[in-house]
Amino acid sequence: MNRKTIAVLPGDGIGPEVLDAALPVIEYLGVPLDLEFGDIGWECWRAEGNPVPDRTWELISRSDAVLLGATTSKPPREAAAQLEPELRKRGAQYVSPIIQLRQQLDLFANLRPVENYLGGGTPYRFCVVRENTEGLYAGLDFRDVPDEMWPLVAEHPNVLRSGHADTTASIRLQTSHGLDRILRFAFETARHRGYERVTLADKPNVLRHSSAYVRQRLETIAADYPEIISEVLNVDAVALWMVRRPERFGVVVAENMFGDILSDLGGGVMGGLGLAASANIGEAGGYFEPVHGSAPAMAGQGRANPAAAFLTIGLMLEHLGFASEAEGIQEAVRHVARRRDRVTYDLGGTATTTEAAASIIDACRSAPDMPTAAIL
Ligand code: IPM
Ligand code: MN
Repeated sequence: MNRKTIAVLPGDGIGPEVLDAALPVIEYLGVPLDLEFGDIGWECWRAEGNPVPDRTWELISRSDAVLLGATTSKPPREAAAQLEPELRKRGAQYVSPIIQLRQQLDLFANLRPVENYLGGGTPYRFCVVRENTEGLYAGLDFRDVPDEMWPLVAEHPNVLRSGHADTTASIRLQTSHGLDRILRFAFETARHRGYERVTLADKPNVLRHSSAYVRQRLETIAADYPEIISEVLNVDAVALWMVRRPERFGVVVAENMFGDILSDLGGGVMGGLGLAASANIGEAGGYFEPVHGSAPAMAGQGRANPAAAFLTIGLMLEHLGFASEAEGIQEAVRHVARRRDRVTYDLGGTATTTEAAASIIDACRSAPDMPTAAIL
């Protein structure tokens, strides 16, 4: 098989540690990938005024996939305060590097699997499919309501009470193009990963008009997947049922912000973001990253859980066509996560990042002749 090139962008905080610990699994599994390392994140922003420098875009453009560790995201004011003075004078604008990757590469689907890795209780396995390019993340976020929008907001009682001053507005943009492709992706994911249900998490009881249109698109696309059950639930109810009965879900598809919140909740259901992996996928390829952030306060201590980085590498391998290797990694994480003596502090253990990683790699090597039942 042809070798593939992976742009590895360790980023900030615990990003480099978790990738360092997890990357050797690629070699252990003998997957023919060439890793090329690049820069991204806070240091690039501070010193160069751009968290994703041109040389990194160049690396990305000649790679088959991007593997990211973690990057720090801060609100614009805090970000500007930490710039080199010369760059601050030039007015460099901070945009989160991962938002840049999603928008510029048009990676519209964010797949975030949730599974009972820790065992105990009811088994469950579902995934959140988050729209990644529009919704409240479309950039239509205004500190002051633009003049042309005033006729629409002027009659709201609270706008009147504010004397028409200091009103902000953010638009949840949803397009037929954006909706159709994310909904289709959700059904394809259900079909390929063997889920029997697609749940659209929306808010039809309040956002009546936009939600009605989304439902209409869902019904149209669902017609192409007669074997899959589809439903629309209020997003707050989805949050409740994800905690109470996670086993009832298959694919949960949601617009950008709802999906952001639900996927962190999914992390919580699993026992922490230490087990939450993600794939950001579009026509032009994909970038893969653990859902956790850079956790600057924890960096350099060797305590971070590398499991999400392993599972993320698994998603990347699956995407590149190495399905059995991906399954091997998942199986190894399932095996190790259930052994309290092998996991990091967040899962109740005492292992360091490198110890936990060594256990997972070890389990990968023995996975083929060790059925799950025997491991448990
Ligand atoms: C995520 C993160 C990002 C998001 C932030 C860091 C911009 O929370 O990947 O879920 O909101 O998408
Ligand atoms: Mn998030």
